[in-house]
Amino acid sequence: YVIGIDLGTSAVKLLLFNKQGDIAYQVSKNYPLIQGKNGYSEQEPEAWVQQTFAGLRQLIQEGPCSAQEIEGISFSGQMHGLVLLDEQNKPLRNAILWNDTRTTEQCRQIYQAVGEERLLRITKNPALEGFTLPKILWVKEHEPELFQQAKTFLLPKDYLRYRMTGEVAMDYSDAAGTLLLDMEKGQWSDELCRIFELNLALCPLLVASYDQTGTVMPEVADETGLSAQTKVFAGGADNACGAVGSGILADGQTLCSIGTSGVILSYEASSDKDFNGKVHYFHHAAPDAYYTMGVTLAAGYSLSWFKEVFGAESSFEEFVKDIETVEPGSNGLLFTPYIVGERSPHADAVIRGSFIGMDSSHRQKEFVHSVMEGITFSLNDSVEIFRENGKNIHSIVSTGGGAKNEYWLQMQANIFNADIVKLSSEQGPGVGAAMLAAYGCGWFATLKDCADQFLQVDRVYSPQEEKVQVYKELFAIYQDVYHQTNSLNE
Ligand code: XUL
Repeated sequence: YVIGIDLGTSAVKLLLFNKQGDIAYQVSKNYPLIQGKNGYSEQEPEAWVQQTFAGLRQLIQEGPCSAQEIEGISFSGQMHGLVLLDEQNKPLRNAILWNDTRTTEQCRQIYQAVGEERLLRITKNPALEGFTLPKILWVKEHEPELFQQAKTFLLPKDYLRYRMTGEVAMDYSDAAGTLLLDMEKGQWSDELCRIFELNLALCPLLVASYDQTGTVMPEVADETGLSAQTKVFAGGADNACGAVGSGILADGQTLCSIGTSGVILSYEASSDKDFNGKVHYFHHAAPDAYYTMGVTLAAGYSLSWFKEVFGAESSFEEFVKDIETVEPGSNGLLFTPYIVGERSPHADAVIRGSFIGMDSSHRQKEFVHSVMEGITFSLNDSVEIFRENGKNIHSIVSTGGGAKNEYWLQMQANIFNADIVKLSSEQGPGVGAAMLAAYGCGWFATLKDCADQFLQVDRVYSPQEEKVQVYKELFAIYQDVYHQTNSLNE
């Protein structure tokens, strides 16, 4: 058996897999967000540790196997969150999370000090509030005494792994989201550390996602019931693990994941391409691989927001039940999903969404339909950027809440103009984490072999030519709306 631990933003999810790739047991434990001020989003690292340990105790007590039968554990983690540690490796403050937006000023300072071109050359990514370097600079500026005591920084799942093994390390896929990694060299950037007067020693040892980083410490074994022989593997960023867990392991493979936010992610074999910072470009958790990724901030969130405001009494099924009778284009209604700003391709925190073309004949079904279309158009912005950069995208694996509705899957095929592949069971990043452990334990020669065993295709949705054409025209109008409305919110 292996365990994949998915350390998310609202909960930690533990998945126990057997060698056939079946889920043998799963458990999830929540923890709160701490939002002290507007835009702040923090968590207590100790809460991650205690809830994970509670989940492990439950898994060992109630699961189908003995602790000795669990060969390996690995992790998937919420990205970018800053965990600052002192000399004794104790957290100096709460972790500042990926969705904390207090660092707009630090992003401006980064551009001013480094210049956009140089930043893109080194990190391949733009300076965004969510990334780790702006958070480090915020603490340095606002909590200088505390910052002086910092010996190292980690990302959330690295801290959890440290508490299980006693070893301090960070894997490349998560390090790539810090804005401190030199992407092509695959090393911490001494150039950036120098510019921001950061001690290079703050940056932890870099390891591959499938590298073993110790075993379970005896005291953790006592506390959780795990065996101290169980190997622990580094793990990766949640998006990288989501890609592994959806079989995105070779050139030409692309993932669409619609949860609260939405992601379009595509495999890259090299780190020397240039996407001009319009999409993210990170190390993969798979060997010698990378991925590009576009993010729609309010994907599933646009739909749940709309339902909360206009359909709070109905179930989700009732709320969406009539959309199948609506034609592409929602009878003239168009929605842009910028209700909390947008990341890709605009990186614009102040833009807001819109409904355009409202008609007195429109009813709830047209609105719901147009919200789904708008979300999918926003994701298609990222698909198109990949295509403009020479990628062939003929097939996309669709996961997350957006893959639960058949009509939406067909709509994705028509808007992306690509086959949409739905997997039989999808547990997202946690599967990828378990696969990294299975591969690390030597169960399979390659991650691809592991994917063949762990993942099965349920159904493929092909584009419908007439609808593809309608959506092509509408997409051009959709793209215009951003430029026509962005001055409203300046
Ligand atoms: C990616 C990002 C989010 C987090 C969520 O850049 O900020 O997808 O990884 O955990």
